[in-house]
Amino acid sequence: MECATRVTYIHIPSNVALIMSNSLAPDLERWFTEHDARHLDELFAFLRIPSVSARSEHNDDTRRCADWLADAVRAAGLTAEVHATKGHPVVLGEWRGAPAGAPTVLVYGHYDVQPAEPLDLWSSPPFEPTVRDGRLYARGSVDDKGQLYLHVKALEGFLAVRKSLPVNVILLAEGEEEVGSENLAEFVEANRERLTCDAVVISDSSMFAPGLPSILSSLRGLAYFQVDVVGPTSDLHSGSYGGSVVNPAMALARILATLHDADGHIAIPGFYDAVQDWDTQARADIRALPFEDEHFRAETGAPSLGGEKGYTTLERIWSRPTCEVNGLLSGYTGEGAKTVLPSKAMAKVSCRLVPDQEPAAIEALMKAHVARVAPAGVTVTVTHLHGGRPWRAPLAGPLYDAARRALAAAFGREPVIVGEGGSIPVVGDFQRILGAPVLLMGFGLPGENAHAPDEWMAVENFQKGMRAVSALYEELGAQ
Ligand code: BES
Ligand code: ZN
Repeated sequence: MECATRVTYIHIPSNVALIMSNSLAPDLERWFTEHDARHLDELFAFLRIPSVSARSEHNDDTRRCADWLADAVRAAGLTAEVHATKGHPVVLGEWRGAPAGAPTVLVYGHYDVQPAEPLDLWSSPPFEPTVRDGRLYARGSVDDKGQLYLHVKALEGFLAVRKSLPVNVILLAEGEEEVGSENLAEFVEANRERLTCDAVVISDSSMFAPGLPSILSSLRGLAYFQVDVVGPTSDLHSGSYGGSVVNPAMALARILATLHDADGHIAIPGFYDAVQDWDTQARADIRALPFEDEHFRAETGAPSLGGEKGYTTLERIWSRPTCEVNGLLSGYTGEGAKTVLPSKAMAKVSCRLVPDQEPAAIEALMKAHVARVAPAGVTVTVTHLHGGRPWRAPLAGPLYDAARRALAAAFGREPVIVGEGGSIPVVGDFQRILGAPVLLMGFGLPGENAHAPDEWMAVENFQKGMRAVSALYEELGAQ
């Protein structure tokens, strides 16, 4: 089923200036227009490869996808290498022929995708891309193959038309973003010299509304856990044993119930210690964006919205940490009734983090809290699955000035600055290891069903994104 998008109802406020001027250079524009159909065909081929990083049965597909991408990067006129890691390979493309003194830009994206299940909820098969009503439906269309590939095509445009690029380029694409980017920081550390750059540019996020280009001001971090509760060695008759043996499902429910207080605040002691409150200006900026709770609620289909007391919906998503159950498993869940006391129970629990929370510190707090509240009579273990640091954008400086101009040129509108509730684990690592500013300008839209059935990307944004990043390379080269 398709999600209604909140954007359909939005009014762009009058303080968002309309810019009529400076569109893309005519030679590049002509080349893009001539090749738009071919670019879409190639993206189809990229999307047909089921590079599902979470599933080992797709390891060969994921490897094949890295090889396919490396070939595409070479065809665009860069060099490309496929580097093995402990997990899925990294694709590294390079072009270093820019005029002396030109900056070096590192473009990052991911070629892995989320699992496509449940397959029966897709209107067309996830790995057979199709365009309906200007929407390109396929797993990975917006997250992130379409957004990565538009960079490859922008680079190809320059090299085809101008035989040169205004900036040196490093293209780094990983195959493990959707499973926590566990091996990428190590790769970046090991290749720090080679990856030295003046700016990191990423398109793996969304615009706030159609036609409204957006620059990200923040990403949340993540700390992901599995909680296992084990009681008797096997399931037991709930009449013969219930009431005398501690029930692992009930024990798990009690543990989970201690994670929040009645106002929706997280009740793990110390959890908020490192949280930076947003200043009054930042909160006022969020309130000025065109957003209505009721439209957001309708998009989710939930009967009402709910969350931490004292914050608006966008503040809750962008500026506050969370602790959520992502999955639960215990006991009898089949048809009808079975009187049984389960031998074990399991929950997947993840916390989204905001600056300056550290995943390792949250892991320690979570483990100590669960150990403290765990009922007697069961064994409880908390395993940390993966994590990533939160990130806040610098928002000022030449990179951001260039991005504002480039987006205005491609979309005819000044971009808005927006937060983000999701995570891209490596972003904080780039800033820390390479010391370069990171820019997130994405071309997705709200309601494009990333990670869900019927994921799509607007064909128009695939094409405009290509033009916007070309304009960005031009702006950066001119600085
Ligand atoms: N493209 C997303 C990040 C994102 C999410 C951007 C929502 C904009 C809106 C990325 O591919 C993603 O899904 N990241 C994971 C990271 C996790 C597996 C460590 C996420 O946020 O769940
Ligand atoms: Zn994703």
